[in-house]
Amino acid sequence: MVRAKIFKIGSRISSSSSQASLNKCAEMIKKGKTVVFPTETVYGLGANAFDENAIKRIYSAKGRPSDNPLIVHISDMNMLNEIVVSVNPYAKKLMKKFWPGPLTIIFRKNNIIPDIVTGKLSTVAVRMPSHPVARALIQKSGVPIAAPSANISGKPSTTTFKHVYEDLKNRVNAIIDGGDAEIGLESTVINVASKKPVLLRPGAITLEQLQQTLSKKIIVANPNAKKPISPGMKYRHYAPESPFILFYSKDPHIMCMKLKAKAEELVHKGKKIAVLGSKETMKETGCEKICDFYSTGVRGDLTTLAANIFRLLRDIDNKKYDYILMGSCSEKGIGLAIMNRLKKAASQII
Ligand code: TXA
Ligand code: MG
Repeated sequence: MVRAKIFKIGSRISSSSSQASLNKCAEMIKKGKTVVFPTETVYGLGANAFDENAIKRIYSAKGRPSDNPLIVHISDMNMLNEIVVSVNPYAKKLMKKFWPGPLTIIFRKNNIIPDIVTGKLSTVAVRMPSHPVARALIQKSGVPIAAPSANISGKPSTTTFKHVYEDLKNRVNAIIDGGDAEIGLESTVINVASKKPVLLRPGAITLEQLQQTLSKKIIVANPNAKKPISPGMKYRHYAPESPFILFYSKDPHIMCMKLKAKAEELVHKGKKIAVLGSKETMKETGCEKICDFYSTGVRGDLTTLAANIFRLLRDIDNKKYDYILMGSCSEKGIGLAIMNRLKKAASQII
């Protein structure tokens, strides 16, 4: 068991205390240690992407299956050229438009990246984050940093220091507290190395934005496919410990009716339940009168919902409910990413 050193770094990373903390963390990365750091999407559990033993520590800290490959984070284009075989015109367009930022692109990998990083795949997932702390840490380390989301495997990703600490305080060498993540959902993952571009995981860079940039139809991978095309797709993810029931309908009124009926049934049976929903859902279902209701804000404000969903699921889960109930949201824009995570987190969809 290790005990994580904690470093707090505010938004002013140029201050001397922030620089000193970043230097210490970069030294740790160079020495093969694990460092949790903030990014604009979710917290990442990082280690030197060139160091096999360091990467093993990531998998064991998370309890992650070793065939689920990691994203390699870079701070400049020289690092990209060092780790990939080639960069095609589609990838170039996407990088120009969306890097640094919440977009991960799949490339054919160079031998310099150990097989353990990619679960023996011949491709590697690469992202240049925009968060200043993440960028500075990579830059100061001088190596690309492999980093999955900083959570115990299967649980929701972490978007706050408190939740990182809960999961990983005794499992990593250092944690950088950089406050709350801005986006709240993991990066969009796209493969443009295959003949047709495939969206492997929706995120803050939306399908609509990708389609517009590439002027090409993009295939959306089915997250529930029997034979998944991305290794990460086959595992249940983002799941709270309490049974989580998702109510799905394109029509919010129908969704509310289903949710209301189930909530009443469970309360009648004496179950302790939590309902998560918009202010409109609260009004329409009246659930706040019969159980604990957690508001996700105004219906349709998907950016706010994305920023808060993992935090809420974790906080609610800590209160040990018999059931957690939530309604679907629109699948437009970042809504596609929210629904992708909710469907994977759900133990039942009604
Ligand atoms: O926003 C994010 O992407 C965060 C932050 C820390 O950058 N990271 C993250 O990593 O979400 P992780 O490991 O939780 O998710 C990586 C996803 C998985 O679904 C994995 O299967 C997929 O990317 N992936 C990684 N390498 C791949 C590859 N070579 N081919 C296809 N999918 C890959
Ligand atoms: Mg993850």
